[in-house]
Amino acid sequence: MLNIAIFASGGGSNAEAIINHLKNHEYLSVRLIVSNRKNAGVLNRAKKHGIETLVIDREEFYKNKDFTIKLATAQIELIVLAGFLWLIPPFLVEAFPKKIINIHPALLPKYGGKGMYGYHVHQAVFDNKEKESGPTVHYVNEVYDEGNIILQARCQLLPTDQPEDIAAKVLRLEHQIYPVAVEIVGRFIREGKKNY
Ligand code: GRF
Repeated sequence: MLNIAIFASGGGSNAEAIINHLKNHEYLSVRLIVSNRKNAGVLNRAKKHGIETLVIDREEFYKNKDFTIKLATAQIELIVLAGFLWLIPPFLVEAFPKKIINIHPALLPKYGGKGMYGYHVHQAVFDNKEKESGPTVHYVNEVYDEGNIILQARCQLLPTDQPEDIAAKVLRLEHQIYPVAVEIVGRFIREGKKNY
């Protein structure tokens, strides 16, 4: 099995969409849910599905050794960020080259970068009277939202759409494309390994 860890800070609807999509998958398995918030909704979802959870504090997360040992012990090969708000430290990016992906709720490169998360993104899209929006799945590097794009989906916005309507439209698309993107990247990693 190729083990996946999902990192999430919030409700975890994307995490659950991925868990459901990969249930009984031939070679991909969601092995671990990591959160920086002990009350995050994602932890309840993980428990419901019988998936191991790990709550980390800032010091542990940014202190190289302990955290990477935990990931290695769980034999994690792919890290999926789903609403995880901490910047990934360079040692982790180096340890998982092209093996960390993220979903952003806008059409990158627009509306990305520091401070552009959650409601702020949809408010900015609304303020600029954009005619479309949609999620972007991308590789993660040391800079917020700047890794190569893997997959995007678009939805039309109506002049009457409020920021919360935009958020709902984009989230619906996230649930459709993120599980597929995880599967694609998982296959890349698996096939890459077979070619070594
Ligand atoms: C999503 O909008 C995602 O694009 C962003 O954080 C949100 C997470 O939502 N990165 P959920 O916790 O998966 O419901």
